[in-house]
Amino acid sequence: MPSRHAEYLDAIGIQRWLLRDGGSAVEPSLDEPSVQSDVVTKKAPVADSEGEWWSLSDEVSACRRCQLHQSRTQTVFGTGNQNADWLFIGEAPGADEDRQGEPFVGRAGQLLTQMILALGYAREQVYIANILKCRPPNNRDPLPDEVRSCEAYLKRQIALIRPKIIVAVGRVAAQNLLKTDTKIGALRGQPYHYGEQQIPLVVTYHPAYLLRSPREKAKAWQDLLLAKQVLQQTQ
Ligand code: URA
Repeated sequence: MPSRHAEYLDAIGIQRWLLRDGGSAVEPSLDEPSVQSDVVTKKAPVADSEGEWWSLSDEVSACRRCQLHQSRTQTVFGTGNQNADWLFIGEAPGADEDRQGEPFVGRAGQLLTQMILALGYAREQVYIANILKCRPPNNRDPLPDEVRSCEAYLKRQIALIRPKIIVAVGRVAAQNLLKTDTKIGALRGQPYHYGEQQIPLVVTYHPAYLLRSPREKAKAWQDLLLAKQVLQQTQ
């Protein structure tokens, strides 16, 4: 009988590609994940972090630092556990996210949510944010001045969450967080460190790309397992 883990992987089409590509290399000796109710280790709260969090959230809602405020329906601050060990950072809200005010809720988001589940976490146990808080028109790439305008918000969020691992989801997130033009294929496969706090960071493909190129799902799964290994080494 297939394990729950295998079923999760199968549901997102990863199991098939693992088998086809000779899966043993990508199945490390990690514990069989199952969604746990209390996976996130409690961190001592930063003094008044709750108040800072809500004032940051209010600031973002009212933001007019770049032109994107003119075309957005609403800002998309982020979602999940403010005390999470895992922080997933994508590119920017798309049409669904702009409408609902929550990151990664469209088709690509559903795949990301399933991958998080396959890792052993519910979506609510991790934190999910984006490089940009507002949707670029027609889903174009974020412009450098938009990224610059929004950067301080994400940095403050990271400082408050204090994640133990950051997953840069897709090229735009990876290149902006790591301040590089290197292609994503060359960036993935090794851990980096982000910011003054030197938070471990792993790069993976964007789920929208995985929907177009399902063969790459096995590599994305390897990336998430690398992130899990890096996290385990810090504990
Ligand atoms: N793509 C992203 O990078 N972020 C979202 O929130 C949705 C789609």
